[in-house]
Amino acid sequence: MCQTETNIFNILKQATEYLTSHNITEAKLDAEVLLCDVLKITRNKLPTIRQEILTQEQCQQYQKFLNRRITGEPVDYILGTSEFMGLKFKVNPNVLIPRQETELIVEHTNKLIKENNSKTVLDLCTGSGAIAISLAHYNTNISIAASDISKEALQIAEDNATINNVSNKIEFIESNMFDNIIDKKFDIIISNPPYVTEKEYEGLEKELFFEPKTAFVAGKDGLYFYKIIANKVSQYLNPKGILLLELNANISLQIADLFSSFLFVKIIKDYSDLDRILIAQNG
Ligand SMILES: C[S@@+](CC[C@H](N)C(=O)[O-])C[C@H]1O[C@@H](n2cnc3c(N)ncnc32)[C@H](O)[C@@H]1O
Repeated sequence: MCQTETNIFNILKQATEYLTSHNITEAKLDAEVLLCDVLKITRNKLPTIRQEILTQEQCQQYQKFLNRRITGEPVDYILGTSEFMGLKFKVNPNVLIPRQETELIVEHTNKLIKENNSKTVLDLCTGSGAIAISLAHYNTNISIAASDISKEALQIAEDNATINNVSNKIEFIESNMFDNIIDKKFDIIISNPPYVTEKEYEGLEKELFFEPKTAFVAGKDGLYFYKIIANKVSQYLNPKGILLLELNANISLQIADLFSSFLFVKIIKDYSDLDRILIAQNG
């Protein structure tokens, strides 16, 4: 499809049609983002080079990207990078692509850290490290532990800490939930655990199957990891310490019930009016 004699305006038009014909919803945006990566330019430059043509090498690279995209592979995996909280993250299929809706829990945590002068944070189920690294970037005098069961995910998270210059603030721990979090207590524990029910997982869009299943599925009822957290988290929180969890909005009330013994439990809605965050305070 990509031809060297065709100008960028027409290449983008054809690429958008190609992606649309393969049911890619954000076809125009994806066509532009992938081309910008090939050309190593930012998107705002595109209108200024519409009459230019591509080299053969650029054309081949772009065609490869488009061919990957029509299989449903997410743009972020094709490019190997993602953006979260204004920072750049390396991603590959060993880690969940950080979601925009998860920025909300980071914003609330940033606020609580400042209000309570919190010094220590645990990011349980860190994946790419998006949450831990953002907190480290936006808060001075903070010490963060970030854990995950996946060695491969932790490797990416460590690389991301280096890329974002916060390695000195984060300790990475390979751990099945709390198993290897030994002799430590935190002012704040934050987690975006797997929370999709087996049934919900079967119905997800095909693009999500490129991401690790272990980042999504939490048993038949979606509560598997929330229950572990509810049973154990108090031992790892300082007195009056705070827990923040990202919620599966479909089961938010069942999740809140698990934390009824806490001093208070609050549910915060996201911009789509869905229950998105649980905040609970340790006694
Ligand atoms: C929903 S992802 C969250 C990733 C990242 N925190 C984010 O918000 O983008 C859940 C993460 O939990 C990890 N995980 C799955 N089972 C686990 C377990 N038993 N113990 C610790 N981490 C686990 C997965 O490897 C995955 O990285």
